[in-house]
Amino acid sequence: MAGSNSTECLRLDGIDALRKGRVVLSDVSFTVCNKEIVSIVGPNGAGKSTLFDVITGFLKPSAGRMYFQGRDITTLTPDRRCHLGIARTFQIARPFSGMTAVENVIAALIFGKPSTKVNKFGDSWVRDRAMEHLKMVGIHHKANTPACLLTLSEQRRLEVARALATDPSLLLLDEFAAGLSPQAIDEALALIESLRSRGLTLLIIDHFLNVTVRVSDRLVAVDKGRVVAEGAVKKVLEHPAVVSAYLGI
Ligand SMILES: Nc1ncnc2c1ncn2[C@@H]1O[C@H](COP(=O)(O)OP(=O)(O)O)[C@@H](O)[C@H]1O
Ligand SMILES: [Mg+2]
Repeated sequence: MAGSNSTECLRLDGIDALRKGRVVLSDVSFTVCNKEIVSIVGPNGAGKSTLFDVITGFLKPSAGRMYFQGRDITTLTPDRRCHLGIARTFQIARPFSGMTAVENVIAALIFGKPSTKVNKFGDSWVRDRAMEHLKMVGIHHKANTPACLLTLSEQRRLEVARALATDPSLLLLDEFAAGLSPQAIDEALALIESLRSRGLTLLIIDHFLNVTVRVSDRLVAVDKGRVVAEGAVKKVLEHPAVVSAYLGI
């Protein structure tokens, strides 16, 4: 939870972003503290995934600056940001579908961070590390299954395992719980809690509000590319601008 002694993990300062010449983020500013769980909520098309694209370097902002652990990352490429410790999952899982689950994680281990001891320790060490990541997300029993044959929930978990393999300190989860069964949502919550206990900072997009209200320290509500409310979960959910954004009134 953020407090007076919290240290800053990520800060966005006046971010604007365009897609096909149209403004989709406008003057977005907020801060995430280390070890916090912050969720981005808002209706479809609000700009939530675009925000992740900007934070991870997939989309250049047209204005504003971003800071990670106090360092200006605004112009860094996605791979540089990954090496600094920022990892993400995508709203629609993007595994290498012809590769098995464990091969997907091995690829992330090899390419995720130059400092990993991958080259030094050889194939069996790498495979053992990959299996540890699959175990952490609860799909180690599917290690040899081609990614294309995994269920939606398993593919989302594989995305998390691949992200963890890059050894992040800030993990961005895009619609991690969308479309999951009640049981899979409970499992997703347990996974989020276990990531928190490992000391990760989490920024989670949760359009349906079905997971994060139970685990978030704070919410940031976005509508039409702008931050319309920010703060404690209850306060944000009751904010007139958030109610209006969700009900379309
Ligand atoms: N690749 C893209 N090309 C053009 N417009 C896009 C693209 N992705 C998203 N948009 C538009 O940007 C706006 C924000 O989209 P997005 O960030 O995906 O919203 P959210 O994740 O909140 O549903 C929407 O109007 C959407 O249509
Ligand atoms: Mg989205």
